[in-house]
Amino acid sequence: MIFGQDNLENNSNGLTVMAIMASPRKNGYTAKLLGSLLREFPKGTNFDIVNVYELNPVPCNACGYCKAGNGCTKKDLEDFWVRFENADIIVFATPIYFMGVPAPFKALIDRFQRYYEARFRRNMKNPIEKHRKALLIVTSGSDGEIGYEVIKHQLLQAFSVLNIELCGVTLAKNTDKCGVDNTDVDRARALYWKVR
Ligand SMILES: Cc1cc2nc3c(=O)[nH]c(=O)nc-3n(C[C@H](O)[C@H](O)[C@H](O)COP(=O)(O)O)c2cc1C
Repeated sequence: MIFGQDNLENNSNGLTVMAIMASPRKNGYTAKLLGSLLREFPKGTNFDIVNVYELNPVPCNACGYCKAGNGCTKKDLEDFWVRFENADIIVFATPIYFMGVPAPFKALIDRFQRYYEARFRRNMKNPIEKHRKALLIVTSGSDGEIGYEVIKHQLLQAFSVLNIELCGVTLAKNTDKCGVDNTDVDRARALYWKVR
């Protein structure tokens, strides 16, 4: 359970929202904004909340297996891939760490290589059949935006082979000085209207 996930409904109305949470701080700024957004979804939405520090993906070591065929030599994400490929909406929430994403999230992004190879080496049109909508929440200690741009570029490259459409993004800046305020929360909540 993270950030009051117990308060979220799970009565199944058919809509599955996967949240990929990339902050290790379960009550931090990223968690606060993600929780605010998820609470906008209607009663009955299925939430699948994945903290990348708990998922702890084995890093890609460029073994080359996925160049020749579908899948991966590393089997730690087999269950995750099924849920990821079948979610309706995917919300990514991450702090900026050294102008990029935290290490376990980067490990997950690198594991998307199996889909990249399927698309471009093996010419599969859509390695993931289902079209998914995505939202992105980023928090940043400073007021700079370079890290935010880096993360957007990283994810957009990945989304191009994942059949994911990025529908909305928000950046909460200056958290090291000011935390997150009501404006940041409102912007996170408003992302809901980008995927409804
Ligand atoms: C290891 C580490 C690296 C960080 N690197 C940056 C950075 O490059 N740029 C920045 O603006 N903030 C940086 N920060 C600050 C975090 O992005 C910021 O505090 C964020 O809001 C933390 O979110 P959280 O409360 O969910 O942990 C860094 C924080 C840590 C712990």
